[in-house]
Amino acid sequence: MSSPSAAAETAGAQVSPGHILLVGFMGSGKSTTARKIARKYGKISYDMDIGISRQAGKSIPKIFAEEGEEGFRRREVEYLEYLRTVDPAIVSCGGGVVTTEEARRLLRQLGFVVFLEVTPTEAVSRISSPDSRPLLANGSDPAKLLEQRMPMYLEVADLRFDTTGKSPAQVASELGAELSERGLL
Ligand code: S3P
Repeated sequence: MSSPSAAAETAGAQVSPGHILLVGFMGSGKSTTARKIARKYGKISYDMDIGISRQAGKSIPKIFAEEGEEGFRRREVEYLEYLRTVDPAIVSCGGGVVTTEEARRLLRQLGFVVFLEVTPTEAVSRISSPDSRPLLANGSDPAKLLEQRMPMYLEVADLRFDTTGKSPAQVASELGAELSERGLL
């Protein structure tokens, strides 16, 4: 696991270090948590799925349908490259961003990575519109997907935070306090 300063060193001078990046499975609460922490601590927040969809001019399901998962993963890497050029922010990442090596490398360079953990059962129960998640809509087994991805989340994580049984407000408040204690906010 790399510290923020180590990440900045590896990244080189042109990289904007100091982002806080939330990764984790679909339904782990990344988007809400990022928004709430940013609001409380006066930071900017970015939501990768929203940003990618805006840049592409189409919805995430449409990107998957027209460009395949591979096309979407390429867009995720491009978005991470874009984040190198902006001021430090709280970033909510797509649930599958860790599945490409290039994205994992960029995540480690961009700042401090928090892995929001959730059980597959709770993740599925939290997702209000599964149709908006192409990988669930195509019948993938969430438990299997999470198991496959676990080593990748752990590879990039500077901090693991268990969200099981917690509301987004509780997660934001506890995680915000922890990041603040570490001098990261
Ligand atoms: C994906 C998760 C989604 C979105 C896309 C693919 C995945 O993001 O990026 O549907 O592969 O797990 P959320 O985790 O925000 O739902």
